[in-house]
Amino acid sequence: GACLVSSVERTLAMIKPDAVRNGHVDSIIAACEAAGFVVAGRTDQQLTTSQASQFYAEHEGKEFFAGLTTFMTSGPVVALLLEKPNAIKDWRALMGPTNTEKAKSEAPESLRALYGTDGTQNATHGSDSFISAAREAAFWFPGDLAKERTLAMVKPIISDTK
Ligand code: PPS
Repeated sequence: GACLVSSVERTLAMIKPDAVRNGHVDSIIAACEAAGFVVAGRTDQQLTTSQASQFYAEHEGKEFFAGLTTFMTSGPVVALLLEKPNAIKDWRALMGPTNTEKAKSEAPESLRALYGTDGTQNATHGSDSFISAAREAAFWFPGDLAKERTLAMVKPIISDTK
């Protein structure tokens, strides 16, 4: 019979301090599971300034960097390792546009439109590439688990249709 090959991909998501403070954690996780994501890892933590600067190092020097790190250290976040075919792209689609105001007009059903606050306080984060997903997963899930999870970032599923 024909052979189907698909792959489960992993991405790193965060529920940001505004959404945690506003009580949206359970709704966001429910929406995520309803969209077919499996939560393969979860950790609830408050970032230090040094950790936030490290996580967002690619944005160092940009005009919004200080505001971003101040916001991201303002309360606990929920980091999630999400698993699904096309997880990276599909999670970003579910989140909607970066700016919550834009999300509200362009993608009113998106997570940022529903649960975000403004341009900086936008409820959720998602890795933007395979490389970022591997780095961000290792950041939040260090140690042996990270190695296993990073190596398993793409897990082929081969199924015989007959
Ligand atoms: S950019 O402009 O291409 O570097 O933006 P992007 O790659 O989408 O990521 C920007 C991250 O910084 C957060 N942030 C802001 N972006 C733009 N403008 C303002 N004022 C701003 N404040 C914060 C934005 O939410 C992105 O964070 P993540 O966690 O990746 O969504």
